[in-house]
Amino acid sequence: MVKIIGIIGSPRKGSNTEIYVKKALESAENAGADTEIINLATAEIEPCIACNICKNTGECAIYDDMREINDKLREAQGIIIGSPVYFGNVTSQLKMFMDRSRPLRIDFKLKNKVAGAISVGASRNGGQETTLSAIHQFLLIQDTIIVGDGDPLGHYGGAGVSGAAGDAAEDDVGLETSANLGKRVAELALRLNPDS
Ligand SMILES: Cc1cc2nc3c(=O)[nH]c(=O)nc-3n(C[C@H](O)[C@H](O)[C@H](O)COP(=O)(O)O)c2cc1C
Repeated sequence: MVKIIGIIGSPRKGSNTEIYVKKALESAENAGADTEIINLATAEIEPCIACNICKNTGECAIYDDMREINDKLREAQGIIIGSPVYFGNVTSQLKMFMDRSRPLRIDFKLKNKVAGAISVGASRNGGQETTLSAIHQFLLIQDTIIVGDGDPLGHYGGAGVSGAAGDAAEDDVGLETSANLGKRVAELALRLNPDS
C-alpha cells in the first residue's frame, strides 16, 4: 500500500490547515492509500544553521523532531503540504521544516514522490496562490512530481478562505479542492508504485 504523508504547517492546534490536510488524506485513503499526519504545531524543529554537515554526511547535525520527520518522508510515496497564508507566503514553522529537509536533497531521496499543496488565508485574494507556489518551489527543488487538484476544478491544489480556527469547515471550495488534491496524489502514487 502506498503511504501519503500530510504536513500541517500552521503553528496553532485545531487549525484550518489541519481541516484541509485531513480532508485531503481522507480522500487519499478512499482512493486506496495509507496516510499519516505530521502536525508542525506540536513538533520541535530548530532552524537550519547552515553548518553544511548534511552536504558531507547526508545527516543533519541537529537532534530534534526533524530526524524522525525526514525518515518518514523518505519512506513515503506521496506528500501533501498545507500552510496558512502568512504575508503571502508559508509560515516560519513550515519554512524551518523545508530548510531542515535539506539532508533528503543530498542524493534526492524525495525524487519521484507525488506531492501537492494546500493553503488557506483569511482574505479571498490573500495570497493562497503565492503560498501554493512557494510550496511548489520547495517540492520541485526536492525533485518530487507535483500535482494540482485535478478534475473537475483543476487548479493549483487545495485553496480555502477562512479566518478564525475551524472556519475552514464552512468553505466548500477549500474542502473540495483539498479532497480532490488528496485523491489526485493517491491515484498517481498508486500508478507509480503498483507493487506497494
Ligand atoms: C502573521 C500572520 C500573517 C497573515 N497573513 C495573511 C495574508 O497575507 N493573507 C491572508 O489572507 N491571511 C493572512 N493571515 C490569516 C491566516 O492565513 C488565516 O487566519 C488562516 O485561516 C490561518 O490558518 P490556520 O488556522 O491553519 O492557522 C495571516 C495570519 C497571521 C497570523
